[in-house]
Amino acid sequence: MKAILILLIFVGLYACDTGDKSKPSGAEGWLKGDENQKFETIAKQLRGFDMAMVETGYRYQELYWAGKDENWEYAAYQAEKIKVAIENGLERRPKRAASAQNFLNIALPEMGKAIASRDTIQFKQAFTTLTANCIACHVLEKVSFVTVKTPVERQSPVRK
Ligand code: HEC
Repeated sequence: MKAILILLIFVGLYACDTGDKSKPSGAEGWLKGDENQKFETIAKQLRGFDMAMVETGYRYQELYWAGKDENWEYAAYQAEKIKVAIENGLERRPKRAASAQNFLNIALPEMGKAIASRDTIQFKQAFTTLTANCIACHVLEKVSFVTVKTPVERQSPVRK
């Protein structure tokens, strides 16, 4: 009898629990459906690799001007954030990971060393290598129409 009662309590608790999970969540209940559907909606909103690239494109420009300014702390900051953006993008789209190996394992660490050296010539070389690796990945991933070239105009309000 006692065992049955305990079982009933658990069944009851489970029923309440699943009931809660399918209740709409978020402001004005924009996340609908069961738990899995809600995760799907969040994943869709987080986007795939394109948003990682929009961020990378911006940070790539900032990195360039930081080097020009010899603002080495800002350059190191941007190089680190490029790494985070691409790694997070690859977590969402793991099929693209193989194409990014040279970029992540060679070009970015080289950039890190150049920034640490605080040498503008070394930075310029590392930036050329980095750019070549952006392009190489675009070719491998069949988006070679996204042609990356050294920035010419400055848009950011961050100046030294
Ligand atoms: C995985 C290898 C990979 C690397 C490394 C890479 N890209 Fe990309 N990039 C892509 C792919 C794939 C797309 C297209 C994304 C899509 O279609 O969802 C893209 C798209 C872009 C876009 C267009 C984004 C948009 O939607 O407006 C820009 C800008 C860009 N990349 C810049 C860069 C720069 C700058 C670098 C180097 C600092 C770089 N990428 C490195 C794979 C890569």
